[in-house]
Amino acid sequence: MEDKKGGLKRSRNCGDLRKEDIGKEVILNGWLQSSRDHGGLVFIDLRDRSGIVQVIFDPQAEKSSHGKAKDLRSEYVLAVRGKVRERPKGTENHNLPTGEVEVAVQELEVLNKSRTPPFEIFDETGVSEEIRLKHRYLDLRRPPMQRNLRFRHKAALLARNYLDKEGFLEVETPILTRSTPEGARDYLVPSRVNPGSFYALPQSPQLFKQMLMVGGIEKYFQLARCFRDEDLRKDRQPEHTQIDMELSFVEEEDIHKLVEGLMAHLFESLLGRKLETPFPHLPYEETMARYGSDKPDLRFGLEIEDVSEKVKNSQFKIFQGAVSKGGCVRGISLPGGGKFSRKELDELVPQATGYGAKGLAWLKVKEEGKAESPIAKFFAPEELQGIIGQMKAAAGDLILFVADKPETAGAVLGQLRLDLAERLNLVKKDEYKFTWITEFPLFEYSEEEKRLTALHHPFCMPREEDLKLLETDPLKVRARTYDLVLNGEELGTGSIRVHRRKVQEEIFKCLKISSQEAQEKFGFLLEAFQYGAPPHGGIALGLDRILMLMSGSRSIREVIAFPKTQSAVDLTFNAPSSVTEEHLAELHIRLREE
Ligand code: AMO
Ligand code: AMP
Repeated sequence: MEDKKGGLKRSRNCGDLRKEDIGKEVILNGWLQSSRDHGGLVFIDLRDRSGIVQVIFDPQAEKSSHGKAKDLRSEYVLAVRGKVRERPKGTENHNLPTGEVEVAVQELEVLNKSRTPPFEIFDETGVSEEIRLKHRYLDLRRPPMQRNLRFRHKAALLARNYLDKEGFLEVETPILTRSTPEGARDYLVPSRVNPGSFYALPQSPQLFKQMLMVGGIEKYFQLARCFRDEDLRKDRQPEHTQIDMELSFVEEEDIHKLVEGLMAHLFESLLGRKLETPFPHLPYEETMARYGSDKPDLRFGLEIEDVSEKVKNSQFKIFQGAVSKGGCVRGISLPGGGKFSRKELDELVPQATGYGAKGLAWLKVKEEGKAESPIAKFFAPEELQGIIGQMKAAAGDLILFVADKPETAGAVLGQLRLDLAERLNLVKKDEYKFTWITEFPLFEYSEEEKRLTALHHPFCMPREEDLKLLETDPLKVRARTYDLVLNGEELGTGSIRVHRRKVQEEIFKCLKISSQEAQEKFGFLLEAFQYGAPPHGGIALGLDRILMLMSGSRSIREVIAFPKTQSAVDLTFNAPSSVTEEHLAELHIRLREE
C-alpha cells in the first residue's frame, strides 16, 4: 500500500453529518475506529474530535479505494472523499448522532499508519490506569477524555468571562519564587547563577496576591498553577490549578456572594442546573460535632449524636470511663441497619479501629424500645430509652457507638458515616450540596512540633471579638476563614487577611515565629504592609476538584491532560528523570552516594 500525502483536505467533521447532508460530497479526515468486511463491502467507522460516521467502500462504485480499504487497521489516519447517502432501511444506528447516514467513498488517502494500539479507543476501557497514562495520547482520543478536556476548557473560559465582567484583572504571578505559607513541602529549583540558592515553586500565589492588593489592583484573579510536594490521593496532584481571587475593601459576604454567583454560572452553563444561593453556612464546631468532618457530605443524614450525658452513669465501664476522663460517647443511627448480620457487624469493628477507634459498640433497636446488643445488659431500661430517643432511632435501626476523645470519636464516626452511606446507597448521586464552613479556629496544636500552627495560613484575620484571646487563649481564637465544600470535597479556602502589622506580629508570636524569622520569611510583605495596605480578603477554588465533581469523574486525574501517578510520576514523559553530572555541576549540586 502506498501513502499519498496531501490532497484530500477536510471539508466537514465526521460527527456533524446528518440527513440534511444527503447527496453532498464531503471530504473527511480522521482515525479508523473499526472496520468490517461484509462480503465485498468494507465498512469503516471514521472518528475525529466531533464524533464518528460510517464510511463504506463499495467495489461496484470505486475499485481502487475498495482494494486499499481491506488493508486498513485501527487508528490509521485517513482522508476520504465521498457522497453522503441515506443508510438502507433497517441498518440505521440509533446510538450514533450520524446513524442515519453513511459516506460512500470515492477516494481514499492514507495519511498515516498506526501500530496496533495497546488498548481500543472506546468509551469504556478495561485497561489499567497505568497503561492509559503511559499512552496518554491514545487515552485522550477516547470520547470521555475528549469530553472532560472540552468541559475544562469551557469552565475556564466561563470563569474568566464571569470575573472579567465583575471587574477583575487576571494577573500572572511568578512560578520561580520563594517558599509560600500553605504548609506542604516545596518543590525547589536550584539557581545556576546564584550558587547554593533555590527558588521554590509556589504552593499558591498567596503572597503575590496580597502584594497586588497593596499594589492597588483591588480585584485580582488568576487561573493559577500551584505546586505542592505532598502525599497524593484521588483529589490531590503535585500540581493543581486554582481559580485564585483577592479583593480589597471587602467583607466575607462579598466574597461568598461572588463565589456563589460564579458557581451558579458554571453549573447553569455547563450542566443546565440551577443552584440555590446563597449557600448555607455551618460553623466549624458544629460540622465537627454533627459530621465529624470539616468537609461534610450533606447529601444524606446519618448525623452524629453525643450521648455522653445519657451514658455517663451507666454500668458500662468503657462508656462511663471515657466520659469521666474528659472524653465522650458518640453514635450514629443507621435506618434499616438492624438487618446487618452478626458477621457484618463484626467486620465493622476493624474498620472503626482502622480509623483510630479503640472499639465499636452496636445496638439493634427492636420493637417497643427493646434492644439487641452485647452491651444492652449494662443499661437500665430508661437509659436505653434515653439513648434510642436521642439517636432518633426506630425499630429496625442500628446504632453504632464510639467512646473516645471527642476528636477521635468524631473522626471515626465521620468516616463510618461516609462508608455506610455508600454501602447502603444513601448518597443521592445527582445532588449538589454546597455549604460554607465558617468560624474555623485560627490555630491548632501540633503534637509533632509541640507548638501552635496556623490551621490555614498565618495571614488569616482573627475575628474582631476574639482578638483579645490571642494572648490569653489562642486556641479559642476564631479566624475570618471560610471553606467552600461540595458533596464532601473541599473546593476552596479563603479568608479576610490581616492587613495591620501589629496583629500580624501577634500571630507570629503565637506561632513561635521569631521576629527575625518573620523578617527573613515574610519581611518583604511586612514592609509592604507599612505603606497603606488596604483591608483585603480572597479565596482560591480548586479547579480540578470542581471539574471532577461536575463531570462525575472518579479522580482529578480524569480532568487533567497529563496527570501524575500516586507516586508523582508522569508516565507519558517519564518525569522526573535523572540528569547528567555536567548539568548538576553547573547547578553546583552533588548527589549524595546512597
Ligand atoms: P488551599 O491550600 O486550601 O488554599 O487551596 C485552595 C484549594 O485548592 C485545591 N487544592 C488542590 N487540588 C488538587 N491537588 C492539590 N494538591 C491541592 N491542594 C489544594 C483545593 C483547595 O480547597 N492560598 C490559599 C487560598 C486563600 O487563602 O486565598 C490556598 O492555596 O480545592
Ligand atoms: P470488651 O469489654 O472489650 O469486650 O468490649 C465490649 C464491647 O464494647 C465490644 O463490642 C467492643 O467493641 C466495645 N468497645 C470497646 N471499646 C470501645 C470504645 N472505645 N468505643 C465503643 N465501643 C467500644
